[in-house]
Amino acid sequence: MSKSAVVTGAGGFIGGHLVTYLRRHGYHVRGVDLKHPDFGPSDADEFVLADLRSFEDCREAVKGVDEVYNLAADMGGIGYISGAHASITFNNTMISAQMLKAAFDAKVERFLFSSSACVYPQHLQDVPSVIPLKEEDAFPAAPEEGYGLEKLYTEKLCQYFTEDYGFPTRSVRFHNVYGPLGTYDGGKEKAPAAICRKVANTPDGGTVDIWGDGQQTRSFMYVDDCVEGIYRIMQSDYSGPLNLGTDELVNISGLVDIVAEIAGKTIHKKFDLSRPQGVRGRNSDNTLLRETLGWEPGIHLREGLKPTYRWIETQVREAAPKQAAE
Ligand code: NAD
Ligand code: GDD
Repeated sequence: MSKSAVVTGAGGFIGGHLVTYLRRHGYHVRGVDLKHPDFGPSDADEFVLADLRSFEDCREAVKGVDEVYNLAADMGGIGYISGAHASITFNNTMISAQMLKAAFDAKVERFLFSSSACVYPQHLQDVPSVIPLKEEDAFPAAPEEGYGLEKLYTEKLCQYFTEDYGFPTRSVRFHNVYGPLGTYDGGKEKAPAAICRKVANTPDGGTVDIWGDGQQTRSFMYVDDCVEGIYRIMQSDYSGPLNLGTDELVNISGLVDIVAEIAGKTIHKKFDLSRPQGVRGRNSDNTLLRETLGWEPGIHLREGLKPTYRWIETQVREAAPKQAAE
């Protein structure tokens, strides 16, 4: 008989891709979210609208499934998460803690929590040529305010449920994920999607606004690698927190150059130091991931940005006549 899974946050970016991945791997999938996906129908066998800040909705969500992939969260890029500490921390605390308890009560086989590189201490990320972050670096703790603090707390809660009750949990620290079907405007978008949108909206020879001085660094993971990694980590026996990201470090100015090249445009950059910038540098140390899985994300930024840019460029082009008519 085929396995069954619930994916929460299935109306969002990574959750939507994970539903498709699990269906292709023969799972019966229940998708759960506050909303339907923004860019087309879900591939889930069943899709439930629910508010996972309610324990009753969490209980309903996990009924009768083998595996729980908890991706629901109040989430966005650095502009969003640094501007709404109270609501994000409250919402995500309610979702994460109650989903874990509901999954435990329902005796599901495995529970996966989507954590973040935002758990890492700010002072280890204060130069562009950052030393890649190892899992053990999360303590002594000094996470990103609000959003990162909740992720770190819930990782510990997962650890306690595993230690005290033998409940199999997984905590996965995603490093900045990008790809088609991700939010690209409205305020929650992250740098790769925002820059693709800005370049798509700019004529050849025009100027693009960049947050910060462009020297800040990140590693970015294509969404296909992300869902492959989620599945592999869930099937592994490893219950501690694991990085899931690439270690291909790029600065934001370099990211803009790659997008402009894919777009076939000459782009001038205007740097805006008044906008949110987050940490100065962030990279993933994949040693433990490699040791645990014998695998790590392998899709290079330039390759992943091609379909991402094409998709966002199409969205921007199709939205333009609609906006003009409004
Ligand atoms: P997303 O915003 O596209 O998806 C999250 C989904 O959760 C949304 O569809 C939202 O409607 C849903 N949600 C929010 N509150 C809810 C509630 N009360 N009840 C039910 N559903 C609710 O974000 P994403 O990029 O797909 O992120 C998925 C997970 O991965 C999140 O936990 C996020 O914190 C984590 N993460 C993502 C990244 C990244 O770069 N995308 C990085 C680190 C961690
Ligand atoms: N969002 C955005 N939009 N960022 C921009 C832009 C822009 O137009 N231009 C430049 N940047 C810069 C930001 O100033 C920041 O220094 C860098 O690009 C990356 O920004 P984001 O992608 O928004 O966020 P982040 O990498 O700081 O944090 C994200 O990744 C974490 C996991 O690695 C967030 O999405 C977190 O929620 C997530 O957990």
